[in-house]
Amino acid sequence: MKTVVIAQGKGGVGKTASAAHAAFHAAEVGHKVLVVDLDTGNLSKTMSQYRLDVPASALFGDTPPPVPDSDNLIGLINADRLMANVTFMPLGQALKNFPANLRQFANAGYDLCVVDTAPGLGIPLAAALHAADGVLCPVEMEDYSIEGIKDMMRVILNAKQRNQKLQFLGIVPSRVDRRNPRQVRHLEEMRAANANLLAPVVVGLRTSVAAALAVGEPVWQIKKTAARAAGAEMRALGKYVLDKIEMAK
Ligand SMILES: Nc1ncnc2c1ncn2[C@@H]1O[C@H](COP(=O)(O)OP(=O)(O)O)[C@@H](O)[C@H]1O
Ligand SMILES: [Mg+2]
Repeated sequence: MKTVVIAQGKGGVGKTASAAHAAFHAAEVGHKVLVVDLDTGNLSKTMSQYRLDVPASALFGDTPPPVPDSDNLIGLINADRLMANVTFMPLGQALKNFPANLRQFANAGYDLCVVDTAPGLGIPLAAALHAADGVLCPVEMEDYSIEGIKDMMRVILNAKQRNQKLQFLGIVPSRVDRRNPRQVRHLEEMRAANANLLAPVVVGLRTSVAAALAVGEPVWQIKKTAARAAGAEMRALGKYVLDKIEMAK
């Protein structure tokens, strides 16, 4: 099982939208996908039909949780309130338990794990990065988000020292409003300054993405002309992720 973490210190930048669509795409091409909600529940809501009834905090415990049988191609490890305690657990214990507990799901036949994380740079993120093969960072083209990415890069570099298989999958400009000149300028500046750090995908600001997340479907399944461009962008994101971690089909 390969593990991909979606991370960014700031909230509201498109992490959950990216996580959901990367998972939907991987499942559609035939991978068995575990989605883990380390945040407070948006992804759990979108993926509620795939709930395994294993809470995210159970991945941090000293004993591995049982892996429930499921015929679905997607299995959800849902957000739960006990994640609040995980934030205060010793780092060493989190770094040890989380990858070991995830391994149970690999043994049970999951091919890919997509981890959605909370804003901030705490223990759950460190543990997720310790287990990860790749990390993807959605970023809004606003000053605070662009600033935030520098802290995230530092956290990823630290994680790489302990986990050498960790690959930086890139910054994904997300929720980009192409009618907003400031955002367009930020995107151009970002391309000029950090070309090698940018993923070759841009996700535009499109209401159909929010609509799709609300009904638990990928945006490419929304049958409205207005959703077509969003569908193509999210598909491209899903393909890019699988390509980079060598799981394309
Ligand atoms: N490309 C997009 N276009 C329009 N709205 C989006 C897009 N991506 C996400 N959203 C919406 O914006 C909000 C924040 O996105 P979300 O993925 O939840 O960010 P995060 O997980 O980083 O907090 C949500 O309400 C979501 O439905
Ligand atoms: Mg989120």
